[in-house]
Amino acid sequence: MKIILVIFACLLLLLSSCSPAAVKGKYYSKSHTVPVPLTHKKTNLHFFMHDIISGNNPSSVLVAAPKGVVVQEGNVGPFGAVYVFDDLLTVGPDLNSEVIGTGRGFYASVSRQVPAEWTLLFNADLEFTSGEFNGSSICLFSRDLMVIETKELSIVGGRGRFRMANGFIIANVNFFNATNGDAILEFHVTVFHQ
Ligand SMILES: *[C@@H]1O[C@H](CO)[C@@H](O)[C@H](O)[C@H]1NC(C)=O
Ligand SMILES: *[C@@H]1O[C@H](CO)[C@@H](O)[C@H](O)[C@H]1NC(C)=O
Repeated sequence: MKIILVIFACLLLLLSSCSPAAVKGKYYSKSHTVPVPLTHKKTNLHFFMHDIISGNNPSSVLVAAPKGVVVQEGNVGPFGAVYVFDDLLTVGPDLNSEVIGTGRGFYASVSRQVPAEWTLLFNADLEFTSGEFNGSSICLFSRDLMVIETKELSIVGGRGRFRMANGFIIANVNFFNATNGDAILEFHVTVFHQ
């Protein structure tokens, strides 16, 4: 009986998430109350992200800056600077350790108090390319206060195995060069998902 109930609940969830808009001529369906799972999975992940601005093959590039402000070594993150990145995720702090995914997104320098409260708005989709979570991703959207060594970033969603995810990341600065902006971040992730 319990199993049948669980299967029925799963079917309802599936139907409600896949059915097209049922109301003719409107862009939305009727809202339904659906059963939510009583339990969630919790998974911990640990990896490093390499954000390289310097050199000939950067993984992070400046795409916008405020008018009249020169962004260069020694002034890599003035208020209003925006970077797009395609960073490697590895199992260890060494860039030559096993690559397990890519972190793609953009961050913007969002505090007027640089450097005292130097803050990024960090927007990324971290997709894994190996192991059990190959093809799945976690999506983060968070403030990142640059002046502290250990910070918390929020996970607001995910794809694949991490669909409907939420959670948090405790991020340690493993390496940071404030002159050229190169950084290696260590991520301790706690993710709750279906
Ligand atoms: C990850 O998934 C892709 C696409 O399905 C596949 O081509 C690749 O071989 C997989 N990699 C690993 C390491 O499992
Ligand atoms: C930091 O970057 C500057 C400018 O590129 C460079 O001269 C210096 O060696 C770097 N320091 C470290 C520890 O990598």
